[in-house]
Amino acid sequence: MEVVIVESQVEMARIAGDAIAAVVSSRKTPTLGLATGSSPVPVYADLIERHRTEGIGFNGTTMFLLDEYVGLPDGHPQSFRTVIRATFTAHVDVDPAAVHGPDANADDLKKACLRYENLIADAGGIDVQLLGIGSEGHIGFNEPASSLASRTRLKTLTDRTRKDNARFFDKHEEVPRHVLTQGIGTILEARHIILMASGLAKSVPIERTVEGPVSAMVPASALQLHPHVTVIVDEHAACRLKHADYYRSTFKHKPERQAI
Ligand code: F6R
Repeated sequence: MEVVIVESQVEMARIAGDAIAAVVSSRKTPTLGLATGSSPVPVYADLIERHRTEGIGFNGTTMFLLDEYVGLPDGHPQSFRTVIRATFTAHVDVDPAAVHGPDANADDLKKACLRYENLIADAGGIDVQLLGIGSEGHIGFNEPASSLASRTRLKTLTDRTRKDNARFFDKHEEVPRHVLTQGIGTILEARHIILMASGLAKSVPIERTVEGPVSAMVPASALQLHPHVTVIVDEHAACRLKHADYYRSTFKHKPERQAI
């Protein structure tokens, strides 16, 4: 696990943006895994800017959302499909038909989850997966006690997650209780995973993820089992890390300053 401690959101976005731009520019049919929530928004802004000013193109890229709320009608402003369109994909040249999410309005949700797994596999897996982290350590919406081998499936949100996400809705009660989410096993198959976290509220889950034991009670800790994970955190989210100085010096003295 590479831990990068940054001074600003701009630096965080630039480092994640460098990794994505490198993959998108070097592969014929790149695949990106996209998270919603606040953490990746600066990365999407960075990529939109690179598209405008440097001509980085997303034509030929396939994109997969991590998760989707169950029970929101198509086009609801908080459905993750709508959010990702508004914050990222509508502003770059990706084919809208190449942006996929789990179909949370399907009659048969189990089948929809299986279809989603097959779609990711048929695309050759995910090159770079962006992740945020929940206050209790979720990735995607794999809440504590999720199987570390889980695949895309229906999950029930914890009260804490529904409270955290209430800021996006008019009322707390409007936050759906259920989601379809890629499983931890699904996420761990991505070739490079970038987890981003900012702010004091993320310091406990980040400490547990990076320096705690691997445990289903902190689903993000499963990332310790993956060979290529980059955790990018601001000083607040990093404040409980015991080996912060080591992570800083490792990044500073990285042998080649290639994109991560
Ligand atoms: C969103 C998702 C969630 C969020 C997490 C952090 O698609 O899967 O795991 O990444 O809840 O959200 P923010 O970034 O808003 O703190």
